Amino acid sequence: MNTQHLKGKTILITGASSGIGKATAIACAKAGMRVVLSARGLDALEQTAAQINMAKDAFGDTSGGGDAIIIPCDVCDDDSVQTLFEQTLDAVGKIDVLYANAGYGLFASIEDTADKQIRDIFETNFYGTVRCVNQALPIMRKQGGGHIIICSSACSEISLPMYGYYAATKAAQDSMAGAMRAELAGTEIHVSTVHPIGTYTDFFNQVSNKAGKDVGLNTPDSLMQTPEHVAKCILKNIARSKPKPEVWPHWFTRLGVSLCTAFPGLGAKVTRKMHQRKSG
Ligand SMILES: NC(=O)c1ccc[n+]([C@@H]2O[C@H](COP(=O)([O-])OP(=O)(O)OC[C@H]3O[C@@H](n4cnc5c(N)ncnc54)[C@H](OP(=O)(O)O)[C@@H]3O)[C@@H](O)[C@H]2O)c1
Repeated sequence: MNTQHLKGKTILITGASSGIGKATAIACAKAGMRVVLSARGLDALEQTAAQINMAKDAFGDTSGGGDAIIIPCDVCDDDSVQTLFEQTLDAVGKIDVLYANAGYGLFASIEDTADKQIRDIFETNFYGTVRCVNQALPIMRKQGGGHIIICSSACSEISLPMYGYYAATKAAQDSMAGAMRAELAGTEIHVSTVHPIGTYTDFFNQVSNKAGKDVGLNTPDSLMQTPEHVAKCILKNIARSKPKPEVWPHWFTRLGVSLCTAFPGLGAKVTRKMHQRKSG
């Protein structure tokens, strides 16, 4: 993958303190990009920055490793998101790529989910994305271009038992991105969504913490992937002169999901079987 032309470009990543966001930050920094790291927890952000700087020190100036800047932010808070973008511009002067990645999962049946849980997850996963996009768009228009990447999920296309409201947030992000892509056609602002399958991150621990029990992994182990693999696919797309509209880090799932959307009855059967196998 040729990433030479990415040197000196800036990427702002939300949810950069852990999992896919952190792996993407490290991959982009290794490609020479300037990385703005954001999340709520400062300690974990500092660890991500330290890892980036350690890699840079290990190889000296020839590594092309980019700089990391930390700006904590809660994507649920309007002022916090506005400050994130203002401070990013103050520090680096431009935003070539926004990766709206912050999010979490929720394990509960539709019947058992409280109204507050639904509003909370939409507040982070969907409205958190909306807030970031609303800040990024005028900046990118002024710059004359940019790339907005939104972390959706494979379940944007096919819902999963016990993850119905989570999947709804991911479908909402995907719909929003699809509309933007059409609305921005003819401009130099590109929009991509990322659709990971189950990925080994803190995601499932957080889901278990919220559920008050160990929910295990929803995806069969054979279909799990690493955050580094997802990050590599994201970086590859950033490096393209015409970024792909959708990044599916596991192409086989894309095929399976297409079949299930064409035959919804089959989709329900497959996801029910997966769920039953996991819950014993
Ligand atoms: N892991 C999977 O199987 C999987 C599959 C498909 C899609 N995804 C998507 O991938 C994205 C990243 O998840 P992950 O798997 O990497 O999980 P993760 O390791 O738990 O990381 C989540 C990140 O989001 C941040 N975050 C959460 N709420 C936030 C808020 N209100 N404001 C700012 N930052 C916030 C967290 O940091 P703080 O808590 O410190 O804020 C953390 O950095 C999510 O959008 C998720 O839906 C994950």
